[in-house]
Amino acid sequence: MAEVVIVSDRVAAGELVAAEIARLVRGRADVVLGLATGSTPLPVYAAAKRALAGVDVSHVRGFALDEYVGLDPQHPQSYRSVIAREVVEPLGLDPARVHVPDGASARIETAGEEYDRAIAIAGGVDLQLLGIGTDGHIGFNEPGSSFASRTRVKTLTRQTREDNARFFASIDEVPRHCITQGLGTILEARHLVLLAFGEAKADAIAGAVEGPVTASLPGSAIQLHPHVTVVVDEAAASRLRWAEYYRETYAHKPSWQGL
Ligand code: PGA
Repeated sequence: MAEVVIVSDRVAAGELVAAEIARLVRGRADVVLGLATGSTPLPVYAAAKRALAGVDVSHVRGFALDEYVGLDPQHPQSYRSVIAREVVEPLGLDPARVHVPDGASARIETAGEEYDRAIAIAGGVDLQLLGIGTDGHIGFNEPGSSFASRTRVKTLTRQTREDNARFFASIDEVPRHCITQGLGTILEARHLVLLAFGEAKADAIAGAVEGPVTASLPGSAIQLHPHVTVVVDEAAASRLRWAEYYRETYAHKPSWQGL
């Protein structure tokens, strides 16, 4: 099962995950990070800037989970722009080694396949950061996504477009389509780290961690992976049936086990 770590707040979550990222990069210079966008991973990136100070990150590689289709890559809310602004620049990564699916590709039908190939050539993702949508999506794999899916074009749910309207002037500006790593792609990463904060994520987290494994709640795909860490605050953990067990387990975790 997933290890569930309930932390006091998002700053503590960021520090915990950033320490693991720094440990990986210190151990192997060409670590491959799976990068997420949205509000959730921001505390990880803020803490990683501190945790990686003085560490050589020039060989670190990164692959973002997803991108909007039909949004100018220069738009401040394109995930290409967000990854450049929130990750590449503050952490000092080499922009040539950090990839975002190409939502503006003239060959969008095959862009997903090319992206999966690039991940494979890089040796696969070592640590994949994930947020979760209120509808249970991971990446932009909306309800109904196949657990075997590869990187491809998807249609966003109305709920996701409403959730993301806060980044745009209105919901009408939120693109309808996206290109996202598939659930099958995500499940190939060696370590999944799913973060969630706030009451609005409590149902999605309970479903992903403890609910039935179902394509209707794509986050439940994490139950098929042998190495998953779920890092949540109290509010996001509030509907977990086994919360006390998770707390006890983490409090007594053998020191030889990493994150
Ligand atoms: P958020 O989005 O981090 O902005 O809440 C999460 C997601 O949609 O995966």
